[in-house]
Amino acid sequence: MHMLKPLRASRPSAPLGGTITVPGDKSISHRALMFGALAVGETRISGLLEGEDVLRTAAAMRSLGGEVTQDGPGAWRVSGRGVGGLVEPVDVLDMGNSGTAARLLAGILASHPFFSVMTGDASLRRRPMRRVTDPLAACGARFASREGGRLPLAIEGAREALPLEYRVPVPSAQVKSALLLCGLNAAGITRIEEPEATRDHSENMLRHFGAEVMVEHAGATRIISLTGQPHLRAADVVVPGDPSSAAFAVVAALLVPGSRVRVEGLGLNPLRCGLFTTLREMGASLDVENARIEGGEPVGDLVVSHSILRAVDVPWDRAPSMIDEYPVLAVAAAFATGTTRMLGLKELRVKESDRLTATAALLSANGVKVEIIGDDLIVHGSGGAPLGGATVETHMDHRLAMSALVLGLAAQTPVSVDDGSFIDTSFPGFVSLINGLVGNGEVPAITQA
Ligand code: S3P
Repeated sequence: MHMLKPLRASRPSAPLGGTITVPGDKSISHRALMFGALAVGETRISGLLEGEDVLRTAAAMRSLGGEVTQDGPGAWRVSGRGVGGLVEPVDVLDMGNSGTAARLLAGILASHPFFSVMTGDASLRRRPMRRVTDPLAACGARFASREGGRLPLAIEGAREALPLEYRVPVPSAQVKSALLLCGLNAAGITRIEEPEATRDHSENMLRHFGAEVMVEHAGATRIISLTGQPHLRAADVVVPGDPSSAAFAVVAALLVPGSRVRVEGLGLNPLRCGLFTTLREMGASLDVENARIEGGEPVGDLVVSHSILRAVDVPWDRAPSMIDEYPVLAVAAAFATGTTRMLGLKELRVKESDRLTATAALLSANGVKVEIIGDDLIVHGSGGAPLGGATVETHMDHRLAMSALVLGLAAQTPVSVDDGSFIDTSFPGFVSLINGLVGNGEVPAITQA
């Protein structure tokens, strides 16, 4: 039985201040465990996100024969079995709430010659899987699923996988990565075209583990070629802080008067930084310090101070670089002066919840004027604090829960969420981190409701 965890956020008794780190990047954490299990030798990972989503990937890699050990907080070791060396799992693989875990794993399983079954929680069992199973079938794998391609999904992996050639029709790093993972155990070149660039952590990490990956550009299109059956060798991975998690602390600091927060060791891959670009256009004071490259990924410290925000139009082609950040950007837009138009958000409908509808509902329940026109989200900011006061339905979606709580930190009256338990999928420690920014000895701003 799932235990609901209602939470409530109110205006803090002091501005937010201090230096923090946020948990490790979710995308990079999943990939480090997966590539580690496919490499020969021992991969050491530091800063791994220990959220429930990533722990599902760790458990799945163990079920497939990888040796996955935790040495300390964030410090993990994976002894891999080499490309093509995973073994048939004896039971169903349960990927919990994680679309990334499920879709990337489907790619691995498609090119391993054994049978497996994957399932997930009620949210994941509603999400579309055909976007990966349709193109993966061309390698010779066979899939059987519930109606509409929904989990549970049974997979009969290809005996000798063929390399794939595919133009990804939706901007999705998960689809791209599933095809690359499949291509690792196919003889020949896997070639993927993406009309809009999506996060390139898989490409970066494949190179880091010794695979041959080429990226060419034809206008906005990226063409990625992977040479199959490489000898992947274990490599150490330093996981940077997750910009998608930092987003909540950043917007909270922008909205609570007098705040100044420094986030250290943050991943700043340009294909993930659309939110920061947009917030700057809105007038946010956001400065990067100590920019550096760590483990093939751009990293830096971000200093954010309370700012008066103005509305902007967010172009559709920025969406892939901030796809997980729209709910919290919509919260920021509610405080801005003027009408913010966030364009081209079709993909938000197939996240952990229908985030387009749920984000609009979150705002309008708290007194913000909001519209959905086609796939665009339009927020009419009043230039002041919205009324607040509602209990927001979070639909098993961690980012909706955190966005609603950030709203509650600056709205006129407290905001509650029906269930904050899913926050642990990506951001364990979120509540204590925010309360810590209010300060020791102050009244906690987020409490059990
Ligand atoms: C992710 C890709 C994105 C994002 C998700 C993580 C990844 O999903 O929403 O949180 O790690 O590849 P899509 O590829 O479905 O856009």
